[in-house]
Amino acid sequence: MFEQKLPILPPDIELESKLVLKQLARSNRALAELKGYADTIPNKHILINAVLINEAKDSSAIENIITTYDDLYKAISDASGASSAAKEVVNYRTALWQGYELVRAHKMLTINMIIELQGIIEKSRAGVRKLPGTVLRNEKNNEIIYAPPSGETQIYELLSNLEKYINDEDHDIDPLIKLAVIHYQFEVIHPFYDGNGRTGRIINVLYLVLKELLDSPILYLSGYIIRNKSDYYRLLQEVQTLNKWEEWIVYILTGIEETANETLKLVKRINAEVNMMSAEIKERLPKIYSKELIELLFYEFYTKTVYIETGLNITRKTAANYLSALEKEGFLISEKIGKERIYQNKRLYDIVKTLEVNR
Ligand SMILES: Nc1ncnc2c1ncn2[C@@H]1O[C@H](COP(=O)(O)OP(=O)(O)OP(=O)(O)O)[C@@H](O)[C@H]1O
Ligand SMILES: [Mg+2]
Repeated sequence: MFEQKLPILPPDIELESKLVLKQLARSNRALAELKGYADTIPNKHILINAVLINEAKDSSAIENIITTYDDLYKAISDASGASSAAKEVVNYRTALWQGYELVRAHKMLTINMIIELQGIIEKSRAGVRKLPGTVLRNEKNNEIIYAPPSGETQIYELLSNLEKYINDEDHDIDPLIKLAVIHYQFEVIHPFYDGNGRTGRIINVLYLVLKELLDSPILYLSGYIIRNKSDYYRLLQEVQTLNKWEEWIVYILTGIEETANETLKLVKRINAEVNMMSAEIKERLPKIYSKELIELLFYEFYTKTVYIETGLNITRKTAANYLSALEKEGFLISEKIGKERIYQNKRLYDIVKTLEVNR
């Protein structure tokens, strides 16, 4: 296939068909429900981190970077022996947090931010493609299926058109439809040598935050894409070759609806667990209970003495006593990894882990 000139945005076609509008209403409803519930949760960090680690893992799995939670746990807690795949997943999570901070601070999503995020994901400073030769191949027969535009100047032109479309305040077209258009366009521009899929999936959630459809970055399509992977590739291709926008947009909108529903369930479970454990600790260990302690316990799947010491501003010895009391009562399970003792929040870990089995 020869390299062709990519059309710029907006697409020269009516996107809001009847079918699209019907699905759009459902997707917006599901998303609003998720946003509404998430808004009521006091500690957003807990929520975001738990959802994020799951997303980082799924999104990386699309690229065949397969990890298990046990492996990830090692990578997050900086223990030795984590696989390189787990480290990549942790990079992805770092990129997501950074993107979220940037969008919140600047109320914009720019090319430079996108380049920065891809750099974090890939741990590379290569930036936008300069050399020709990047092509997408069919995994099975190695045939070239798509040759993205080449030449740094051309890629920058396309990216700046995309940047304008992302940040434009036009209210004519629903942001969820625009999200589908943005994701398609980003993937066909394919601005980087690698990491375009993962960067594109981060852009999706950042766009929802930018448009204030979500306050926290907690909606990720990667699980949905994994389950519907062949449609994903086929539709990306068919927008280009057959101008099949409608099917693509409905595909993405359906993903948003399904994922918003799933995420709502997950968030409810996490929140219920935080409340339950909080009540139990208050009852069984009233001397050490504090809201801040609960937050620290749910900050990650695990904690360490030093986090409790600094987080609660207590001595190392007291912190160590707190943790062993919590372990004795069955709230935490500790393990010596390297020189350090790591305390796992078993219940949080189990909630997120069951998702792995259900996929
Ligand atoms: N025919 C196609 N046309 C346009 N884009 C495509 C096509 N097929 C796949 N893509 C996009 O290219 C991405 C893969 O590109 P790349 O390897 O740079 O990204 P990645 O993040 O490393 O991989 P992955 O998305 O598999 O995790 C896919 O996720 C998809 O979004
Ligand atoms: Mg790749």
